[in-house]
Amino acid sequence: MSSNESAAGIAHVYRGTFVHATYHTAVEILEDRLLGVDTEGKIAFIGSGKEVDRLSQKWGFEAFAVTQLGQHEFFMPGMVDTHIHASQYSYAGTALDMPLLQWLNMYTFPVEACYKDLEFARNVYTHVVKRTLRNGTTTACYFATIHTDASLLLGQIANDLGQRALVGKVINSYPLVRPVVTPRFAPSCSATLLGHLGEIAQNNDLHIQSHISETKEEVSLVKELFPDYDSYTDVYHRHNLLTDKTVMAHGCHLTDGELKLFRETGASIAHCPNSNISLCSGMLDVRRVLNHKVKLGLGTDVAGGYSPSMLDAVRRTLDTSKALTIQDTQYHTLTFEEVFRLATLGGSQALSLDENTGNFEVGKDFDALRVNTDAAGGPIDLINHGEGPKVESNLLASSGDDRNIVEVYVAGKRVVPFVERP
Ligand code: GUN
Ligand code: FE
Repeated sequence: MSSNESAAGIAHVYRGTFVHATYHTAVEILEDRLLGVDTEGKIAFIGSGKEVDRLSQKWGFEAFAVTQLGQHEFFMPGMVDTHIHASQYSYAGTALDMPLLQWLNMYTFPVEACYKDLEFARNVYTHVVKRTLRNGTTTACYFATIHTDASLLLGQIANDLGQRALVGKVINSYPLVRPVVTPRFAPSCSATLLGHLGEIAQNNDLHIQSHISETKEEVSLVKELFPDYDSYTDVYHRHNLLTDKTVMAHGCHLTDGELKLFRETGASIAHCPNSNISLCSGMLDVRRVLNHKVKLGLGTDVAGGYSPSMLDAVRRTLDTSKALTIQDTQYHTLTFEEVFRLATLGGSQALSLDENTGNFEVGKDFDALRVNTDAAGGPIDLINHGEGPKVESNLLASSGDDRNIVEVYVAGKRVVPFVERP
């Protein structure tokens, strides 16, 4: 048996079009492929549809058991939300009338205090996990609150509903859920606390998440609170909180020197364009971050961002890039294909989970969205315009939405549509 072949048997085989990003190509469209998923939920093989007979013999599945995608269907990788506040979902779409620091005091902190009530937490956390799964988020990096029991519950709910998740503050692990050390942001932490958190992360090889340089006012505040540090980034770095398992949200106002520190440590940025605009925080220049070779994924940042949908994050990323182009016509605008990669493989790299998820490679978990551009009751009118652009490749950038996501798979298991338990 070659090293590519898993010892587990084949559980499912799908035939049709697969669209994904690779390390070399922003969007690769694989037509008439056969993809096998083993009993552990991992991709066992990818071959040509024409080779169904040979592959069925080699892998021991019945050709009639293959699931054939419809004419207007394709699989794409599940999307990775690299930054979302589960505890803020209850007021998403409201309260966007003041800048960050006032917004936190006026709306966010009072709501987050409610999570001492476990039933309140259970209700919101169940809704946010279900909603983001329906929206195609197969991996989410969640902020919760300081309440241990409620954070444990979020991990359990994500695991039970079948979503891959990082949950902060630190919690036990479930099969799909890992803990993430979560200082909220430097202004709410003492240097001593940051030091201890860095130690915990280092001693246990844990993920780390926080916020950085979201607004100019916040950057000034950090300068006041931490006068002995070179920069906002230096505050985290000197406490061992910048590692290749760190994801920092926003980073709108980072200097070149700070981006260099991100590159050197392997830390990544969660780009949250809806939030950046909704709270008037700034416009992150993603091209500049990518030119610095810093890893970057997309985040919804609910409820600073009003939408829990990663398709929205894709659109807002393009909008911000185009706004930067309006300001500077020489600007190298992001392409739709690049943003598709950021929403999938880029996010998994930003969370250092790309060994497990992010695209369709043999050995990775099958985290996938079955997309039907012609879904019943969906928002797209398929109009044949001959040699014009393909509707499929335009789906995320234009008129599609979660009604086109007809099934969601995480680690090979179908998790949407939900099967309500008796
Ligand atoms: N900075 C610190 N806390 C928060 C938060 O909850 N949301 C956002 N957008 N920024 C923050
Ligand atoms: Fe945030």
